[in-house]
Amino acid sequence: MADKLMEKIVSFSKRRGFIFLSSEIYGGFGSCYDFGPLGVELKNNIKKAWWDEMTKKRENIVGLDASILMNPKVWQASGHLTAGFADELVECKKCHHRFRKDFLKNKKCPDCGSELTKPRKFNLMMKTFVGPIEDEAAVTYLRAETCQGIYTNFKNVLQSMRQKLPFGIAQIGKAFRNEINPKDFIYRTREFEQMEMQWFCHPKEAPKFFDYWKRERINWYLNLGIKKENLRAKEVPKNELPHYAKRALDIEYKFPFGWKEIEGIHNRGDWDLSNHSRHSGEDLKYYEDEPVFAKAPAGKKYFPYIIETSAGADRSLFAFLCDAYQEIKGGRTKTTKAVKEIEVLLNLHKSLAPIKVAVLPLVRNKPKVVKKAKQVYQILKPLFMCQYDEVGSIGRKYRRQDEIGTVFCLTIDFESLENDDVTVRDRNTMKQERVKIKDLIPFLREKLES
Ligand code: GAP
Repeated sequence: MADKLMEKIVSFSKRRGFIFLSSEIYGGFGSCYDFGPLGVELKNNIKKAWWDEMTKKRENIVGLDASILMNPKVWQASGHLTAGFADELVECKKCHHRFRKDFLKNKKCPDCGSELTKPRKFNLMMKTFVGPIEDEAAVTYLRAETCQGIYTNFKNVLQSMRQKLPFGIAQIGKAFRNEINPKDFIYRTREFEQMEMQWFCHPKEAPKFFDYWKRERINWYLNLGIKKENLRAKEVPKNELPHYAKRALDIEYKFPFGWKEIEGIHNRGDWDLSNHSRHSGEDLKYYEDEPVFAKAPAGKKYFPYIIETSAGADRSLFAFLCDAYQEIKGGRTKTTKAVKEIEVLLNLHKSLAPIKVAVLPLVRNKPKVVKKAKQVYQILKPLFMCQYDEVGSIGRKYRRQDEIGTVFCLTIDFESLENDDVTVRDRNTMKQERVKIKDLIPFLREKLES
């Protein structure tokens, strides 16, 4: 059943332009995926919702966009080049397939049942060379988490923005990990996007803010429509904590293949700032009560603690897709053949839906109706993400739009020619109302942005 749902979502994602296999014409490439025309809209809407939540809604979080390539010393200081950021790999002695040890349920090869080698550590950093000649070039790494660029810019942001504790720095960007077993469609990939916010606070306030951010982040998913029963928070046991964390909590979503992490909340203590201070020689302590440039009295300087919220843009997208995907047996539009068929409804939150408005002429063989529909489309297109569709019966057109989660369908019929209006159909209720064309923009703004 779960396998079936997963198969359906994978094929739906391709068929309707959400997610394609990367380099598909060459047979794909190791768990890399491309976001199609609707996928990129959905992903941008998720990232915008997160960015607005962090930086627009609050006074004390600022944004950053740091580079992917960094001085390799960053990764020495962060602990990513040592055992802390390595998985244990085992190999089948017969078929030579490789597995992450912690993913295995027993000690035999899951593919052929043969004996496995002893585990060895496998670092997840992706190595690359900066400079034209490989032998002489500097070795560096594609970043494995976006937050390191935030720590190396801590002082820059503190000084340029005159921040006082507590405050946060938010960033969205690509991260890379040489995962041993990328799997479950876009769930675990080697290239992915993170939405990370680092909250700097007094060490004593860290537990309070940990709980605060846990609540805020869970509410973010719920407010964007994720069903309560599909979301949970799971404390990470002490012996499984990441190397930098004093405390960690996973926000998990119930995917078709089980409960899995979509976001981590971490109390990173002073691990990052103290290590970067030591390795770089820069004093990254915070000076309390004084302008940040001035020398502060003794006893008033310390490394802030960091509470991190680290969400995956791709994993969130996958969760939003799974949660919104509905199959309705017998269909909802009783006027069409759908009565006998399965109708798909993508019940995405209106702010996430890739297409907000579809403009549909009732028929395509009446030039006046088509002309009017095209006029409406041209008026709305610069303001809302719109589609124009004239192919097939009106029932089919509605179903195509419901399947991709379009919030409103506007139909131009014969009455529209007389009255200069359209019918506006709501995706979820399927209720229709007539709205004058001159009132459409404020009407849609009010509905979509409220
Ligand atoms: N800075 C902390 C950090 O990176 P993490 O728990 O390793 O913590 C945070 O990763 C989030 O990044 C995860 O919850 C997940 O959403 C996303 N993520 C991590 N590895 C991923 C992968 N291989 N593929 C897709 N998303 C991944």
